[in-house]
Amino acid sequence: MQAGIESISIYTSQYYLDLKTLANQWGEDPDKYYIGIGQEQMSVPAPDEDIVTLAANATAQALQGIDAGALDTLLFATETGIDQSKAAGIYVHELTQLPKNMRVFELKQACYSGAGGLSLALPYLLHHPDRKVLIVAADIARYGIGSIGEPTQGAGAVAMVLSTNPKIMAFDLESGIYTHDVMDFWRPNYTDEALVDGKYSIKMYITALREAWQHYVDVTGNSFADFHRYVYHLPFTKMADKAHQFLVRHANAELRPEEWKRQIDDAAIYQRFIGNTYAGSVFVALTSLLDNSPDDLTDKRIGLFSYGSGSVGEFFTGIVQQGYQSHLKKAMHQEIISERAELDYETYKEFYLFKSKLPTDGSPMRTPKHNTGRYRFAGLTEHQRLYEVVA
Ligand code: COA
Repeated sequence: MQAGIESISIYTSQYYLDLKTLANQWGEDPDKYYIGIGQEQMSVPAPDEDIVTLAANATAQALQGIDAGALDTLLFATETGIDQSKAAGIYVHELTQLPKNMRVFELKQACYSGAGGLSLALPYLLHHPDRKVLIVAADIARYGIGSIGEPTQGAGAVAMVLSTNPKIMAFDLESGIYTHDVMDFWRPNYTDEALVDGKYSIKMYITALREAWQHYVDVTGNSFADFHRYVYHLPFTKMADKAHQFLVRHANAELRPEEWKRQIDDAAIYQRFIGNTYAGSVFVALTSLLDNSPDDLTDKRIGLFSYGSGSVGEFFTGIVQQGYQSHLKKAMHQEIISERAELDYETYKEFYLFKSKLPTDGSPMRTPKHNTGRYRFAGLTEHQRLYEVVA
């Protein structure tokens, strides 16, 4: 028996900032962003959008054509928590009308927690083959106006229905794992902007890749050549080039640049326009690969690497299933990204700064209406967040 992805869908904010606009604002060469870090645009959440609305939109899409009655678990992966106690997934459960006999809880470890959720879900499903698990990863990457991380912001969600009927990808159970206590990126409770030592985080990412890969090789005996494509966590798309170049050298694989680039490039297409989606990033990248690969990936083994600063890394693997193409939502994903409205710098800044205007004393507030898909964050009253289904 196998377990894996029966359905997968991504969602992102309906507004974006072109990084040329950001470059003009700060007097940078746009090529530093377009070429240097490999990012052209970043999705910007509207004031009435948060991880719940992003996640609910992705969930509603992923559930199309699925028997939701078999779902008994929702794992919500995020590092943009909206409450210290209540799981954001409970709002998603209500908004998308999931079955009442479910367990819902939240997972956190920087950008790693989506992959962490997968490692819990797979053995669970193999013990309960009639059930399904929903993993939703949603995040809004905020580093601060004018900060070094600003061009690597983004927002989005991915929802995956996992089951023992993996129509898209079946995961292998063995993986390589690594944990090391480092301060490369973190967000103290008193701030909603991440603190980051950018160059150090790139170094720690590569260290975690080396260690998790080595652990994977030791455990399985598999080698670099066993994989058709590689999918990396993408804080910015150039990170995949850095990571894969390292792995190619480390594994003594003799590949020309165009050969190793071919192994990673289709996975970076969506992220180049959405930006960092933190916990969802490696699965947004997987969706990008499956949707956009010109080759038939049937029966091909894919290697995936998730990295969460702080830090945890995991190298895990899956095999693409026969007929997977007919279960993808490629047209929907491409439309969501291409239909976004471009923001000028002032409106981006206004959207960004809105969060600081939310009351913290329990007084009521309604949020202005923007395009947020089927769901919106309608405001606050008595310290409670209000959500609405958009007609
Ligand atoms: N044309 C083409 N490339 C250019 C360029 C230009 N005009 N100007 C600069 N570059 C290149 C640099 O050479 C560099 O490439 P390299 O990394 O291959 O050496 C790249 O663009 C970035 O330039 P750099 O000066 O290093 O950027 P920065 O100091 O602004 O920092 C990050 C970039 C990614 C470290 C920063 O945005 C950050 O901290 N982001 C958040 C943290 C993060 O995403 N961490 C990743 C691990 S989880």
